[in-house]
Amino acid sequence: MRILFLCHSFNSLSQRLFVELGARGHEVSVEFDINDAVALEAVELFEPNIIVAPFLKRAIPRAIWESRICLVVHPGPVGDGGPSALDWAILNAEADWGVTVLQAQDALDAGPVWAHRRFIMRDAPKSSLYRHEVTEAAVEAVLEAIGKIVQGGKPAGAEEMGAVPVWRKGMQQKDRAIDWTHDDTDTVLRKIASADGVPGVRDEMFGEAVYLHDAHRAGGLPAGQPGTAIARSGGAIARATRDGAVWIGHVRMAKVKAIKLPATHVFAVEAESLPQADGQAEIHYEEAGSVGFLNFRFHNGAMGTEACQLLLEAWRKAAARPTRLIVLCGGSDHWANGLNLNLIEAAASPADESWANINAMDDLAEAVIRTTGKIVVSAVGGNAGAGGVFLARAADEVWLRKGAILNPHYKDMGNLYGSEFWTYLLPRHAGTENVERIAAARLPMGAEEAASLGLANKIVDTGRGGFDAAVRGMALEFAGRPEIGALIEAKARRRADDEAAKPLAAYRAEELDRMRRNFHGFDPSYHIARHNFVHKVAKSRTPITIARHRATTRSMQPERRAAS
Ligand code: COA
Repeated sequence: MRILFLCHSFNSLSQRLFVELGARGHEVSVEFDINDAVALEAVELFEPNIIVAPFLKRAIPRAIWESRICLVVHPGPVGDGGPSALDWAILNAEADWGVTVLQAQDALDAGPVWAHRRFIMRDAPKSSLYRHEVTEAAVEAVLEAIGKIVQGGKPAGAEEMGAVPVWRKGMQQKDRAIDWTHDDTDTVLRKIASADGVPGVRDEMFGEAVYLHDAHRAGGLPAGQPGTAIARSGGAIARATRDGAVWIGHVRMAKVKAIKLPATHVFAVEAESLPQADGQAEIHYEEAGSVGFLNFRFHNGAMGTEACQLLLEAWRKAAARPTRLIVLCGGSDHWANGLNLNLIEAAASPADESWANINAMDDLAEAVIRTTGKIVVSAVGGNAGAGGVFLARAADEVWLRKGAILNPHYKDMGNLYGSEFWTYLLPRHAGTENVERIAAARLPMGAEEAASLGLANKIVDTGRGGFDAAVRGMALEFAGRPEIGALIEAKARRRADDEAAKPLAAYRAEELDRMRRNFHGFDPSYHIARHNFVHKVAKSRTPITIARHRATTRSMQPERRAAS
């Protein structure tokens, strides 16, 4: 079928559906919801059999939904309606929730239902629930709905299905405002979780209006006046609640053009006078048998200069241990997304900070590649993008969770050339013949495709919850194999051969030469793209790589899937 996605942006759910439907032989093209005329033009150009709206913030134009079936993915159970479905589910502490695929009609979220799924709610921030439970449910429901359409099935009204329609208004800041004197820790955390990553909870810190993000329960801290800052740890500041405390990892000043940054970065002076405490460790190392697990969970997978340096320090310690295998375990929502673009944007000289950040990233990637005394595995349970994908590929093996999405390209960030030794790693693992089309296609990639192109070695077919345990078992089994010693020796020989053919330093110098031009050169594209990304500037047109109906010449039409 020809399927047009009409979406506000090509977000994680849209990317996952794009991959899943493409893998099933559907021809998928994407148009951003910019205005009605653009959407209508896309329909005329592409002539889709159906339209899917995985992430849309307003109604589909009547002329479109009257002309063909439009499936809307609503992150709520049958009967639920409104623009803040998941926010309400978290705030109201629902025990379970759902996803409904309904047909667009006049009234929002009120059309007949083609498919739906329910899931158990997890104690997690909104974006994490969206990236896992909502996404998995939506993929199943959309596939079921399309299957029914193909077979000539019919949708059912919500009331016919026994549901009582409930419309919940868009959540306002007052609905989740924290009352520090009355709210207990659970309530504070729920309120912030319901607003994670956008819009955050409006509040005050040190007399300044801010939006709070990235909150965690704090333990072992002395009691304090509810709402006051009582400690610091890494980038986070702890605030007392009436029955404990919470760590606030990131805040955004309530000012025009302010961006989300670590709390201690925004309140650097105020944080200085706070006592240091043990908070949420971003980096954590543990061992089981002859396997070392190096865990790193950076907010949004963004790896700033200091984060890379700390991880390198932890890596060196881990590499010095008498283990046979090290597993690099990144975040379960975002494994890693490369340079920390927010910190770069906030720096006095973004160009200099970009340079420092990429060098710190390269130091880390190089240390991983040069570790020859053991096998290194990247266990990728969360999505990864840009430099994060190549940091993962610096390991000998990449074990990728089945539903994870990779974006193994840099060019969307203002034609950024990229580093992290991708010019060494990509040809080596994917084959020279695939390098150009992976880099140029700029498309999200699912696990099957990543494995077929050498970007992953194993697909771990578990949900989010089962991934860590599965990886643990696989790593212990691997390290216990009789041939592990021979594998380590073979790896060392291959590294020596590669080094003799072309030293890593040469790859690094060539990549960084291009990156220097991206950062300090005449062309400002990277700086503009980063600014727009960080400030969430809405796109004024859909990139041609995904708006396939707008590709005018054959050479512009992505052929990756046909060729793979
Ligand atoms: N630095 C800082 N923040 C980043 C980031 C980065 N490298 N990558 C992602 N984020 C943030 C986003 O701003 C967003 O923040 P929010 O919490 O305010 O919503 C959050 O992480 C999720 O990102 P989003 O873009 O919504 O996720 P997605 O699943 O739709 O898309 C990517 C994933 C990887 C395609 C996209 O995030 C991306 O292009 N990131 C930049 C990658 C990059 O160019 N890195 C620098 C070069 S190495």
